[in-house]
Amino acid sequence: MKANKKHNSGSSLLLANIGQLLTLRSDFAKSGPRRASDLTELGIIKDGAVLCLGGKIVSVGTTKDALRDSWLRKNRKNATEIDCSGKVVMPGFVDSHTHPVFVGPRLVDFEKRIEGASYEQIAEAGGGIRASLEGVRKATKHELSAKALAALQEMAAYGTTTAEAKSGYGLTVESELKSLEAVRDAAARWPGTVVATLLGAHVVPKEFQGRSQAYVELVTKKMIPQAARRKLAQFVDVFCDKGAFTAEETEQIFEAAEQHGLNVRAHVGQLSETRITPFLRFNPASLDHMDHVNEADITRLAQSDTTATLVPGANYFLGMKEYPNARRLIDEGVPVALATDYNPGTSPTISIPMAMSLACTHMKMSPAEAITAATINGAWALRLAERKGSIERGKDADLAVFAVNDYREIPYWFGTNRCEMTVLNGTIAEAKPSS
Ligand code: NIG
Ligand code: FE
Repeated sequence: MKANKKHNSGSSLLLANIGQLLTLRSDFAKSGPRRASDLTELGIIKDGAVLCLGGKIVSVGTTKDALRDSWLRKNRKNATEIDCSGKVVMPGFVDSHTHPVFVGPRLVDFEKRIEGASYEQIAEAGGGIRASLEGVRKATKHELSAKALAALQEMAAYGTTTAEAKSGYGLTVESELKSLEAVRDAAARWPGTVVATLLGAHVVPKEFQGRSQAYVELVTKKMIPQAARRKLAQFVDVFCDKGAFTAEETEQIFEAAEQHGLNVRAHVGQLSETRITPFLRFNPASLDHMDHVNEADITRLAQSDTTATLVPGANYFLGMKEYPNARRLIDEGVPVALATDYNPGTSPTISIPMAMSLACTHMKMSPAEAITAATINGAWALRLAERKGSIERGKDADLAVFAVNDYREIPYWFGTNRCEMTVLNGTIAEAKPSS
């Protein structure tokens, strides 16, 4: 797919002849993340066109209307025009849960699991998250930022234009801050949008074994204040589960985050059930995984704007038979988002289309629900819904062009990349052909 001229994010950009333009617009007077049947509303325009100027979307409609527009008629010669010839254009994906700051894959864990060991057994034997720490502690900031940038670029090639990026594989003050600096440096070199999260409470590192309270204090008294003061993170995350942090420790960490003006999110219910109602007073943007969730908590969650972010890539890669009960959550009115959980232990994929495919086949979400969960609800999960997640006038020019005729093909063709081009804050990135 070729643009008619060299494009920069400041100039005007017209995508026309779009077979299905999925706007995800909200023309109902409701605000907040999408729930229940609203998840299926893609706001499709046939033979659509989008005009972007200075990194923002300025008009959305049919190609016919766009070409009649008086401003465009006057300025058309200066616009970069892309003929989408019947393809699908949608908002760029918002991947609201990723861990891109690590050094290498965990191949021993992978083999042990194939031989039958569980995630917890591997962690107890010195594998798991702790096995990723040495690499990050030894790496330079520059090395970590190069890894994170490579992941972001690959994400963009699969349609992602906004990504959350967690620290969490250093677990010392110095290496957590270094990880966040690496995220900041990678973000500065990527045209998309990055939201940084401090995950100092990923697991208790070996040197604090048996002294988890002392480690929690390191997180609350050193990591959070420093990350906040230096504006290195917007969110604080906690892995609240057996083998990681308790609900009480999670609340302690959330309190520190709140005191320092940082928003919160958490990994919950991945391995075991934790009651999440006590966390809702902190207004978490998102609670993620949610494989095990208490019935009463589902009702409470449905009354809040906290998103349940499902990450089926982790269930797939851990070889699990069970997946989170997305149908139950959706039908009860919980706002559901979908993310990759890109990380070296449980979900080494940057592909949102793969996560969508798993959501459809294993969690019985419809393709439309999966698209909404990976766009506008991902944006809500990062508190960015004002700017991201839909194609509407005034929003950031974040688009993904897929070489398919029908949006349902995006999760259908699994394990291959049909994304042909992304536009990130008005900057075009051509995707590499599928490998
Ligand atoms: O989201 N559950 C905690 N964190 C990651 C796994 C991290 C790892 O195993 O390296 C997750 O699945
Ligand atoms: Fe995770």
